[in-house]
Amino acid sequence: MKILVINGPNLNMLGIREPAIYGRETYETLCEKIRRHADALGAEVSLYQSNHEGDLVDCIQNAWGCMDGIVINPGAYTHTSIALLDALKAVGIRAVEVHISDVDAREPFRRVSYVRAACEKTISGHGTDGYLEAMDWLVKGTQDPDRAAKR
Ligand code: DQA
Repeated sequence: MKILVINGPNLNMLGIREPAIYGRETYETLCEKIRRHADALGAEVSLYQSNHEGDLVDCIQNAWGCMDGIVINPGAYTHTSIALLDALKAVGIRAVEVHISDVDAREPFRRVSYVRAACEKTISGHGTDGYLEAMDWLVKGTQDPDRAAKR
């Protein structure tokens, strides 16, 4: 199985940005952790990070026909981007939304997620382990029947 892990704006600043919320682990350490987990699962993984919405859209579009699953933490674009939602819907690749922090327990504007409607599952507030859980979910191949029906 080929999994694409996409991180949006400011996630390259992990370890530096607001450590009380996002922890001290760096983006590079997160990437290593994801690669190790992919090896353990027998999956192939590609990692992408950008601070630019259009580049994230391009990355999702380029996954069409090549990737079996997407793990996406769109950062702040979660709460604003219909373009990312449309891109995920366009490619129709199974996707899981991940947030390091518990977005529902923070400011009200973080409770809105546009991409959620194109994702099978949302994992929020599990720290960086959430990425690994998302990969497990994709490899296991199970679908939440409620969400599958809505897609
Ligand atoms: C985040 C939560 C978002 O609200 C925020 O804008 C981020 C990171 C998370 O991983 O908890 O950049 O997606």
